[in-house]
Amino acid sequence: MKFVGLDIGTNYTKVTNDGENVFVFPSIVAYGKKRDWSLKGEEKDVYVGEEAVHFQNVEDMEILRPLHEGRIMHESYVELAKYALKKAEGDFVATGLPVKSSRKEREEIKSKLQESLKKEVVIFPQPVGSLAFLNYETGVCVDIGFGTTDVAVLVDMEFLKGDTLLIGVDNIYESLELEIRNKTGVSITPEEMTKLLVEKKTVGRIRSGKKISISYEDIKEDYERLMRSWIDRISSRVKMLIEGLSISIVENFVLSGGGAMLPGVYEEFQRHFSEIGEVTMPDNPLTSNVKGFYKLAKLLYEEKEVEEKVEEKKEEPKEKKGRKKS
Ligand SMILES: Nc1ncnc2c1ncn2[C@@H]1O[C@H](COP(=O)(O)OP(=O)(O)OP(=O)(O)O)[C@@H](O)[C@H]1O
Ligand SMILES: [Mg+2]
Repeated sequence: MKFVGLDIGTNYTKVTNDGENVFVFPSIVAYGKKRDWSLKGEEKDVYVGEEAVHFQNVEDMEILRPLHEGRIMHESYVELAKYALKKAEGDFVATGLPVKSSRKEREEIKSKLQESLKKEVVIFPQPVGSLAFLNYETGVCVDIGFGTTDVAVLVDMEFLKGDTLLIGVDNIYESLELEIRNKTGVSITPEEMTKLLVEKKTVGRIRSGKKISISYEDIKEDYERLMRSWIDRISSRVKMLIEGLSISIVENFVLSGGGAMLPGVYEEFQRHFSEIGEVTMPDNPLTSNVKGFYKLAKLLYEEKEVEEKVEEKKEEPKEKKGRKKS
């Protein structure tokens, strides 16, 4: 039995079938006509991930990002899952959905995925992956993703409460993009923003034969101001959610998601919760959910097997009685 952890996010899809190596690709699907030429000898009209990125400015192509603000907007969600399973094959898939997705939504997604992947699928609230990755059965996880911030409170591996906040990395990127555009006239993409903030690489455009470049130093002040108010908004919502909880639950307090990796975010978040305790961040908060889903898939399967064996044992004596009678 081979297990798969799958985390389909607004910006990136992550998949692993060993719990360590994670394949990450942009959550983008491009549909279009068959191209005039096929250089790789394969004819297809659906492109996923990096391949789809290249088609972003090509005519006759429909470019879709299947997730928006915690909602699955399109059937192309299944294409992301299929592509992920090609990159990391397996039989038993554990994946996550935003905490506030409805039961109906979850059931629909589960059966759609099972049908198209022809695999067994289990679904968890997204931040539970990071808690499982850190072996926490009780705790709080705040997962700052691109489209949403998901919060989950677990007690003994049971979901106690949670929320999906419509505040993600996209909010701070939008505000920062506006400031940069007003100052330089250059409109930069989210991918460029990540390059600028995370890799500290200079980005820019050619305008009227001149180079307009933007460096991290140029935007540092604006970024820090916007980041502080963004984390302030997230923190006050999280504080509302954990109000009244027993202090033992909050002993394991985890920050995850790609947003946690932006400069200064972890420190700022910690500062807001310094009177509650320490906040843990996994080494790679972008992939901790998916690694946790992998662990959960394995755990759940093993538990099921044990249960089935117990059931078999319970049934055995009955069979013997039956045989004696006949
Ligand atoms: N090293 C990095 N590589 C890529 N993205 C990074 C990195 N560090 C920080 N980020 C930020 O993380 C964001 C993606 O985070 P994440 O993958 O957790 O979101 P998501 O799961 O796609 O979204 P959601 O959970 O809201 O559906 C990127 O948009 C970027 O802003
Ligand atoms: Mg996510």
